[in-house]
Amino acid sequence: MSQERSDTLVLFGATGDLAHKKIFPALYAMVAKGTLNEPVIGVAFDPWDLAKLQARARDGIVNALGSIDDKIFARLASLLRYVSGDYRAPATFEKLKTALGSAERPLHYLAVPPAMFEVVVQGLEQSGAAQGARLMVEKPFGHDLQSARWLNRVLHLVFDEKSIFRIDHYLGKEAIQNLLYFRFANSFLEPIWNRNYVESVQITMAEDFGVEGRGRFYDEVGCIRDVIENHLLNILLLLAMEPPVGRSADDLIDEKVQVLRAIRTLTRDDVVRGQFDGYLNEPGVAPNSPVETFAAVRFFVDTWRWQDVPFFIRAGKSLPVHATEVIVRLKRPPLDVFDPIKPGDCNHVRFRIAPQVAISIGARRKAPGDDMVGEQVELTALDDSKGDMPPYERLIGDAMNGNGQLFTRQDASELAWRIVGPVLGDTTPPPVYAPKTWGPAEAMAGFGPPSGWINPAK
Ligand code: BG6
Repeated sequence: MSQERSDTLVLFGATGDLAHKKIFPALYAMVAKGTLNEPVIGVAFDPWDLAKLQARARDGIVNALGSIDDKIFARLASLLRYVSGDYRAPATFEKLKTALGSAERPLHYLAVPPAMFEVVVQGLEQSGAAQGARLMVEKPFGHDLQSARWLNRVLHLVFDEKSIFRIDHYLGKEAIQNLLYFRFANSFLEPIWNRNYVESVQITMAEDFGVEGRGRFYDEVGCIRDVIENHLLNILLLLAMEPPVGRSADDLIDEKVQVLRAIRTLTRDDVVRGQFDGYLNEPGVAPNSPVETFAAVRFFVDTWRWQDVPFFIRAGKSLPVHATEVIVRLKRPPLDVFDPIKPGDCNHVRFRIAPQVAISIGARRKAPGDDMVGEQVELTALDDSKGDMPPYERLIGDAMNGNGQLFTRQDASELAWRIVGPVLGDTTPPPVYAPKTWGPAEAMAGFGPPSGWINPAK
């Protein structure tokens, strides 16, 4: 596959929720910037016509952005086409082939449940629509190691690895790209970024809402599969990886894969699970479901740089705030020369990923007054994140350009499942926590970084 830009975008699942909430607003933003001029063919089962798809797209854009520019929308609407039909019916793909016309390098975007991937990929092949094409697939990519391997085999029957783009939308976020940039475009971090200075790393992704009508989906995945195995593990990789030796997609991904290879496979002792009180009443959730809505997980990266440094990831629904943060905590100075320093105080680097984007350095300074007594302060560089390119816009543009840097490669997709495999599918009912608290307090007692958790502020 050459690096030539795709000449058509085919959106499977065009009438679905993701298209409505994220994909159409991203396409609109691309049209506004002049970065999308190619036809967009929506495909879905619903027997709609083009006007209905255009109206749905418009509604999604207004919801996401609060307003719409009619001229820009008219340009997007003029690029849209619609093919309706059953993904199992060859006739659907014949219609798609006709709609593709003379397109030579379409990008097929599978915004559909993974159970449909095989059917769609086969339909594409049999109709000839896979020829010269790229494939972009939504998460979740598999359910465990076995299903991810199977999915990879299914995709590889038709597409080569360079033509496959597995999405993790976190990799498209500005603040997450900045983790990589900040680490390797500055020199002051490198001497301390290792087991000699770092006491622990903690990553918290807190959401102050429940499953928001996605009970049926969520009850099949749970917190570990939903956000830890993918989004948060990817953040860990960016914090732990070695500098890439070049700027190609593979140079970067190779370093992430080295970390994945070095992460110890989890055992049940590495995990505390929890379920928020009220989850069982959510529509779509099974009675007595043992699925976790909160998990705290301890990882170890067995490398020269990180041996014995615990990396903790904590995520959950119905927590007290909506925020994602990383804290890299440094070891204490060897002696308290002045006043005694409390455990956990002293130096850390905080990366605030959302909702605001910020980098802070935690430090001690002398409190004003007669005594040599200190106080904890943070030096913060805050970015209001206005104007950041939303992840879907960046990722669709990258996939159309054949740039795989921000996508998950086959080996990475399988290694991540290898790591979390033994802690999936636990059927023991998890301890219950009250909504708006930091998970099940009793189960969490004593589980965390050596000097404790730092809860993100609002
Ligand atoms: C999705 C999960 O992948 O990421 C959701 O399925 C979660 O459960 C969401 O809420 C969080 O994404 P963001 O970009 O809003 O932080």
